[in-house]
Amino acid sequence: MRSKLLLLSVIVTISIVLSGCGGSDNDAVNNTTPPPAADNGVTTAANPETLYKQNCTSCHGVNLNQMKKADLTTVGARLSKDEIATKIAKGGGGMIAFEKKLDTTEIDALSEWLAAKK
Ligand code: HEC
Repeated sequence: MRSKLLLLSVIVTISIVLSGCGGSDNDAVNNTTPPPAADNGVTTAANPETLYKQNCTSCHGVNLNQMKKADLTTVGARLSKDEIATKIAKGGGGMIAFEKKLDTTEIDALSEWLAAKK
């Protein structure tokens, strides 16, 4: 009786050891997740001076003062940021509307930049 119990416990022990080590799991080795995309802090925020050069110099000139009636070097003293944004978006009085050409972020950047010119 004693020896049978011993034999049984040996068999149980061996089967536990075998099942434990049998299916070694290599998935963990191959499961290398790529690092998350680096956030280098570079944003694509609209640069008003670049936007001005691309869209506005043909009429307002590189120095912003090509047109006497619309001298942008002092526009911030005459118009608020919102009024400037409306002018850029809607145009009028000889100026073309930019609401289809520039997005709101770009118009916002330009108006803020121009509103500071006093
Ligand atoms: C097709 C020529 C033309 C282009 C291009 C142009 N403008 Fe104008 N802009 C004008 C004219 C003409 C006026 C004067 C309109 C008026 O008297 O109502 C003016 C007026 C303005 C005014 C108001 C100035 C004031 O003192 O009342 C702002 C601000 C302005 N433009 C900004 C811009 C910006 C920013 C761009 C580029 C995104 C631009 N404009 C492109 C012709 C242009």
